[in-house]
Amino acid sequence: MTQELPPRIHLASLPTPLEHAERLSKHWGGPQIWIKRDDLTGFGLSGNKVRKLEFHFAAAAASGADTVITCGAVQSNHSRATALAAARLGYRCILLLRKPDCVEVPELQGNYLLDRLAGATIRFMPPNDWELRDELMSAEAATQRAAGHAAWVIPEGASDALGMWGFVVAMRELADQAVRITGAPATLWHAASSGGTTAGIGWAADRLGLDIPIAACSIGDSAAEIKAKVSAIWQQAAIETATETPTVPIEYIDRHIGGGYGIVSDEDLDIQAEATSLTGQVFDPTYTGKALVGLRREIAAGTYGKKDNIIFWHTGGGFAAFSHDFSRIAAADGPHA
Ligand SMILES: Cc1ncc(COP(=O)(O)O)c(C=O)c1O
Repeated sequence: MTQELPPRIHLASLPTPLEHAERLSKHWGGPQIWIKRDDLTGFGLSGNKVRKLEFHFAAAAASGADTVITCGAVQSNHSRATALAAARLGYRCILLLRKPDCVEVPELQGNYLLDRLAGATIRFMPPNDWELRDELMSAEAATQRAAGHAAWVIPEGASDALGMWGFVVAMRELADQAVRITGAPATLWHAASSGGTTAGIGWAADRLGLDIPIAACSIGDSAAEIKAKVSAIWQQAAIETATETPTVPIEYIDRHIGGGYGIVSDEDLDIQAEATSLTGQVFDPTYTGKALVGLRREIAAGTYGKKDNIIFWHTGGGFAAFSHDFSRIAAADGPHA
């Protein structure tokens, strides 16, 4: 790939390892599962978002900003990573957080606790305002300007034609590591929501000519919605780079969204706990845990067999595990497997 990268600052500990999850593969009885450990991009900066933020904070610096503004759910991994990166680099940080329905004051736990520890300014928005998030962030930037500050707005999930480059870098890293996987080309299974991760993966696979089937497992939106977000990012990136949009096929999967964003069944939680007991890795119920449950169900349905390889991209999110009710697990002595 000859494409030059936009300016970037280094925040993540890279490369993250690619590990063979032997016990999990054996217990689930299907393909060999490899886990790309983006939960290890840092401690507070763990997860996929920091890869995208490396490009956004470089752009913020170039623009002369002293403040960053972004948005997300109360337990947003992206907002937490932004707040901590801002604290590390010396920016003021304003988060527009979507409060769950009927919640007056969110409990101080998980990512939201870390936002507060990082000193972010937090403005809550009711769920109905979520559609207006871009306008609300622009309005906040205008307010900051009027007060003598310069603000850089980072969209939801840092998922745009700039943040996408974080996953182009990630794919270069993975392509080097994946040579040790023998046999069938590994399907790249990952949680998809705001689309930036999938867009970067697809863009790089296309430009590098990688023979990697890509499975984007939605954790809340319909397949069509995720596809539309990815296409919009690609179109913008194609304009900015004066190149064609990728033609690489991506399988958009919405069979495993269950009750929707952040809603997890008891059975899902059991599968996630089982996965932790077989890997020593922590998954979050909203993103990685749900994507892992989806993979488990596909294996049970025979979509992937013993000759197949899967790379499960562990995109982080561990802190959000502390904001879910796992009490049913407490009733059962481990090990779960
Ligand atoms: C832990 C985790 N995994 C996956 C995703 C989905 O990535 P994207 O928003 O780029 O589709 C997110 C988004 O918030 C996340 O926090």
